[in-house]
Amino acid sequence: MKIAILTSGGDSAGMNAVVRSAVKAAILKGCEAWIVREGYEGLVRGNAEESPIYNPPPATPYSDFPEAAKNIIKNLRFGDGQLLKDGTGDYASGRSLKGRYIVRVGWDDVRGWFSEGGTLIGTARSKEFRTREGRLAAAHNLIKEGIDALVVCGGDGSLTGADVFRAEWPQLVADLLVQGKITDEQAINHSHLKIVGLVGSIDNDMSMTDLTIGAITALHRICEAIDNINSTASSHSRAFVLEVMGRHCGWLALLAGVAGGADFLFIPEQPPKSKPWEDEMCAAIHQHREVGKRKTLVIVAEGAHDIDLNPIRAEYVKDILTERLGLDTRVTTLGHIQRGGRPCAMDRILPTLQGMKAVDALLAADPETPSYMIGVQENKITMVPLMEAVAMTKAVSTAIEERDFETAMKLRDPEFRE
Ligand code: F6P
Repeated sequence: MKIAILTSGGDSAGMNAVVRSAVKAAILKGCEAWIVREGYEGLVRGNAEESPIYNPPPATPYSDFPEAAKNIIKNLRFGDGQLLKDGTGDYASGRSLKGRYIVRVGWDDVRGWFSEGGTLIGTARSKEFRTREGRLAAAHNLIKEGIDALVVCGGDGSLTGADVFRAEWPQLVADLLVQGKITDEQAINHSHLKIVGLVGSIDNDMSMTDLTIGAITALHRICEAIDNINSTASSHSRAFVLEVMGRHCGWLALLAGVAGGADFLFIPEQPPKSKPWEDEMCAAIHQHREVGKRKTLVIVAEGAHDIDLNPIRAEYVKDILTERLGLDTRVTTLGHIQRGGRPCAMDRILPTLQGMKAVDALLAADPETPSYMIGVQENKITMVPLMEAVAMTKAVSTAIEERDFETAMKLRDPEFRE
């Protein structure tokens, strides 16, 4: 099997560990490993030229994987490149990749990638891939390279795109055949595309998995920032309003609030019930000050709003604290500092285990099985139907739009469901 791996949507810490793990697991299992640069955009662009120089040796067939994996882990040799070397591909060789987006890689190409931030193979939010023409070009480019399986690491939008692509695949192949772009043999050999999704997002907004790759690292960044803010806030007896990312999800804000001792926080899933909420916030903060707190921290998730869905902005919260409580208040918007940088240990371990599971899922897949999403639930790496997870995630946004916050919270957090 030829397996291609791509990262899509907003980058997150741990995406490189996914690529490394899936590449190595693919090679260990006798598959060819490929990467697609720049997400779906790279799929659409394909390779402007044939690969003239690099001609890697065939992948080492390896049937005895579990035993080998045990030995690797036992000897701490995972990644030493000696056991099952698939040659050095274009990444490690430093050969120019200009005009080439779908590239075969070997063991050495991904050496050390577990600790790198962002995504080294690039990501993009591709407009082209949203069009049928774009997906037709993408299918053609994959077939030209003989690739029959895709590992996609991205958020819910990217994973939805993957499933649309897979569902459409037989028709895309038929069209390419009619247009004379592929041969009968290619059409037969590529009658199905196998896809598996891994969730890379700092937002931790995907249902049916406890954690998305990169979320814990982002949370660490926020906690560090809060520690820094706390010392200066305390010195001046100031208030800080901290805006954190998360798009429509309040996970980062909520957990940062718990870990950093926030006085008040705003998340999209559970807006303040009281109206006006300004009174409730001021009463709580006033009380904290009364019992001797020298600093005030209010966390605002970027997607926060009131119960009527009016956005709650950090600047507005600052004005309220200044005017009503007389607090010397500053706003800090953390922005992309939360997203970049090296992954924490969990965002190396999780993607490593999930990347291996992704390759297993592809090897076990047949045309009848749905595309799977690799998740983690109660400390176990799981495989759940991709579209079920996407549908459940969409249901949260719908509940919020309909102002059914109780349902939103129940869907988001299994604890609330019981
Ligand atoms: O989905 C990840 C995320 O970082 C969100 O938290 C944020 O809303 C968005 O991406 C920012 O996107 P961009 O990097 O395109 O500004």
